[in-house]
Amino acid sequence: MNVLVINSSPRREHSNTALILNPFLEGLKEAGADIELFYTKDLDIKPCTGEFHCWIKRPGECYQKDDMQILYPKLQTADILVFATPVYVDGVTGPLKNLLDRMIPLVKPFFELRHGHCRHPPREVELKGKLVLVSNCGFWELDNFDPLIMHMKAMCKNMSREFAGALLRPHGPAAAAMKRSGSSADDVFTAANEAGLQLIRQGYIADETLKTVSHELLSLEEYVNRVNRNFRQALEARTIEEP
Ligand SMILES: Cc1cc2nc3c(=O)[nH]c(=O)nc-3n(C[C@H](O)[C@H](O)[C@H](O)COP(=O)(O)O)c2cc1C
Repeated sequence: MNVLVINSSPRREHSNTALILNPFLEGLKEAGADIELFYTKDLDIKPCTGEFHCWIKRPGECYQKDDMQILYPKLQTADILVFATPVYVDGVTGPLKNLLDRMIPLVKPFFELRHGHCRHPPREVELKGKLVLVSNCGFWELDNFDPLIMHMKAMCKNMSREFAGALLRPHGPAAAAMKRSGSSADDVFTAANEAGLQLIRQGYIADETLKTVSHELLSLEEYVNRVNRNFRQALEARTIEEP
């Protein structure tokens, strides 16, 4: 099983996204998967220019010669794709959106009806395999991931991939703070690890495991108070730079 992982947090390995992603990847590895991890921060991926060169002038080929050229064959052949992102304005980060837009050469321009809905047929290399979303967000509620999940599910239909679930960490900064202070969020990270093992060994991630990854770490009121206190302190402590 080869797994292509894209972490799109600009905070890379120090991100709250990585905090959930890394134990998941450890689980995948432990179960025998080969992992390749990229940070979008390290990649040069330009936005799509919207000219449809990759559909008409050079079918299947993007004319922009940047790091997408390294990713194209991997995106086509990975057994499992893992997209990891913090929630940014109710969606993926900008660099990940650029990457997703640039995946258009992997499908043909034609429309075909699948289950009564317009889809693009894949190119010669048959797109297959699973896709997993890993995400964390600043707000407290789980429903902050709803737009992101809808996006990933819709994309899977066009890209002929099976959506294999989402590891979601609401009030993500609280999980990070708890880990730093050594207090009890261990079950979250153990469940993330378990999710990786399950995906390889049994072909799916159990709902219970995903629920544990997302479970409430502290009450809404307490979280809001802590966040506001931290922001107030940071604002008070800042040094004002003269222009
Ligand atoms: C530009 C920007 C937009 C954000 N938008 C949202 C949002 O819409 N909803 C939310 O819950 N958190 C939002 N956040 C908070 C991040 O999701 C949160 O800080 C997260 O823990 C960052 O993860 P990272 O350390 O992996 O980058 C936003 C943060 C930034 C910088």
